[in-house]
Amino acid sequence: MEDLSLLREKEPLEILKTWLQEAEEHSEIDQANAMVLSSCHSTSKHRFKIPGFNFSKQKFRVSSRVVLLKGIQEENLLFYSNYTSLKKEQLSKNPSALNFYWPALGKQIRLEGKTRLTHRSQSVEYWKTRPWESQISQYISQQSSKLENRKILEKKWEDAQRKFYGKEVPCPHHWGGFVFQPHLIEFWRERPHRLHDRLVFAKRNSFRSKKQWKSYLLYP
Ligand SMILES: Cc1cc2nc3c(=O)[nH]c(=O)nc-3n(C[C@H](O)[C@H](O)[C@H](O)COP(=O)(O)O)c2cc1C
Repeated sequence: MEDLSLLREKEPLEILKTWLQEAEEHSEIDQANAMVLSSCHSTSKHRFKIPGFNFSKQKFRVSSRVVLLKGIQEENLLFYSNYTSLKKEQLSKNPSALNFYWPALGKQIRLEGKTRLTHRSQSVEYWKTRPWESQISQYISQQSSKLENRKILEKKWEDAQRKFYGKEVPCPHHWGGFVFQPHLIEFWRERPHRLHDRLVFAKRNSFRSKKQWKSYLLYP
């Protein structure tokens, strides 16, 4: 078993790519690119309310959900979502975190960072590669807004199918990419007797230093 401390001099994004590839090639792992995205917002001024829940005693709301990694650009992780969503509101103002866990490999990667939106042209380019039916469902979705009943959604789906029958569905402005820019990456590897390996890379503030990432180990 490789000793994680031997990876201290490597670039963390290269390690991430290697682990991801290993997960993708593993016969027991489905959707190796699924990652948990956590984000938060201050409850004082926010349009997303939980019906019946009083936020007066809670300053922040923290949320997690799964999204799919769709690319790695330089040191950034790319995913796509709806710009009407709760996550978009949270990510536009606050830092966030990502988590990959592959039980079959006994490996976890945690990342902390901040997020920006991709350029519109990149969203449009990716949109065109998506199946027509997925385009239709994204086109009609007001993701994370309250839906009175399922029939409303199905009616919108049928209407949009008629509208775009035999045509291209244009990429709506409420849909696009997010670029997650990590400043901390932790690699965790399961080892016997709970003596797990934890290797952290943290981005240096100073860009004068040629090597941007500083690495260190953590107790399990
Ligand atoms: C396996 C899996 C993959 C998903 N991939 C995405 C994705 O890539 N983009 C997305 O917006 N939602 C994706 N979802 C749905 C989200 O988990 C979530 O329900 C949705 O984005 C709304 O989140 P929000 O209300 O916190 O913004 C996925 C869900 C699962 C279970």
